[in-house]
Amino acid sequence: MIVSLIGYRGCGKSTVAPRLAAQLGCPWIDADQELERRLGRTISHVFAEEGEAAFRRYERDVLVDLLRNERLVLATGGGAVLNASTRSDLRAAGPVAWLTAPVELLARRIEADGAAGSARPALTGRSAVDEVADVLSRRNSLYAETATLTIDVSGRTPDEIVEAILAEMNSLSSEAAS
Ligand code: S3P
Repeated sequence: MIVSLIGYRGCGKSTVAPRLAAQLGCPWIDADQELERRLGRTISHVFAEEGEAAFRRYERDVLVDLLRNERLVLATGGGAVLNASTRSDLRAAGPVAWLTAPVELLARRIEADGAAGSARPALTGRSAVDEVADVLSRRNSLYAETATLTIDVSGRTPDEIVEAILAEMNSLSSEAAS
């Protein structure tokens, strides 16, 4: 079983993934870090040198490989759900947790990441709040279509988010068994 985390940049996927994996006693992988490791380049470089379309192809290839694992917690990139095959592959592999948060919180975290030197490439060239609002309005239906459970992360610590995911997974599996 693969438990996937989906959601916009800044929602906490990479922070939650190792904690969730520790609770489940399985490995975890951040798909963006794996992509950067394989290509030997940062995502910003890939966007700058080859453009977003090329990045999306690499992203899809990495996810196809990672989805071959038996047991894994998989933190996906915020745009992974743009690919229809990825949306169905993630669902077929196991529970998919969508971490949601208000636009302002996501924008604040994305700006803080940028200030800390771990910026991701801008997707629209607009201010963080405008970009998040705009891109989310186009992506929300894709996240919703892919998710098997949804957790609002605002006001929750990473450990509380993990607890909420595990509780939802348990109730989904007992519903399926009854
Ligand atoms: C992207 C999100 C990033 C990364 C890339 C594109 C997006 O992942 O895959 O910069 O389109 O939302 P994170 O959500 O892990 O930052």
